[in-house]
Amino acid sequence: MRRKLIAGNWKMHGLGADLAEVRALIAAHPAPACEVAICAPATLIHRLAQACADSAVAVGGQTCHIAVAGAHTGDISAAMLADAGAQWVIVGHSERRADHGETDAIVATQCRAAWDAGLFAILCVGETEAERDAGRTLDVVGRQLANSVPDGATPHRLAIAYEPVWAIGTGRTPTADQIAEVHRFIRAEINARIGAAGGQGIRILYGGSMKPANAADILAIADVDGGLIGGASLKADDLGAIVVAAEAAAQARI
Ligand code: 13P
Repeated sequence: MRRKLIAGNWKMHGLGADLAEVRALIAAHPAPACEVAICAPATLIHRLAQACADSAVAVGGQTCHIAVAGAHTGDISAAMLADAGAQWVIVGHSERRADHGETDAIVATQCRAAWDAGLFAILCVGETEAERDAGRTLDVVGRQLANSVPDGATPHRLAIAYEPVWAIGTGRTPTADQIAEVHRFIRAEINARIGAAGGQGIRILYGGSMKPANAADILAIADVDGGLIGGASLKADDLGAIVVAAEAAAQARI
């Protein structure tokens, strides 16, 4: 039984005052029946970790450098995230791949760096709209998985997030059948890669315009083990409603 996982990705949003939303989330959901994490800008990690101390909410970063330390102005290593209080990190988000030229090979090295620092990695894959229109979705996702998931993946240190690029921040989502197809494919690829004993335990999250209004339907789809949520993670009420949907979906599957 895979425990549902709801992870917020605040992207480049959030000042100190916004930690009030996290405190409100914790107050409203002190003991969620799913895992909850918030991946914040690096500037907030330390304060977020303080706000989440003794709570069920885990703290994550949004990317990490491939090296532990070095002459890389402006970059942040996985060890630094861990030192600031993070337990998690997102790697391979499409915005990083597009804006910072992060290739599959770089993402694989970032993921390994995250593991070396003791962080849990959420590794993102997903096709562009042109790739979907060309019927290449599974090819693209398969190649991303093959080349960006390093050897050594286990359920204790990796989740995969399927984030169709065209669904991110657009209010558009794939159909339930389209989500089910890709998640089933990812499950099969991971099982083939590491064996079903580990592969069946790895959580596969959906990301892209997930919000309170559609979370229950998406979380009910087979092999959807949670969500990676951007815009709707910024407000306690919205993220809390998605947590409740995840709790209900987990209950329905028992
Ligand atoms: P939105 O939920 O804002 O579409 O963002 C999804 C995302 O990119 C999460 O990583």
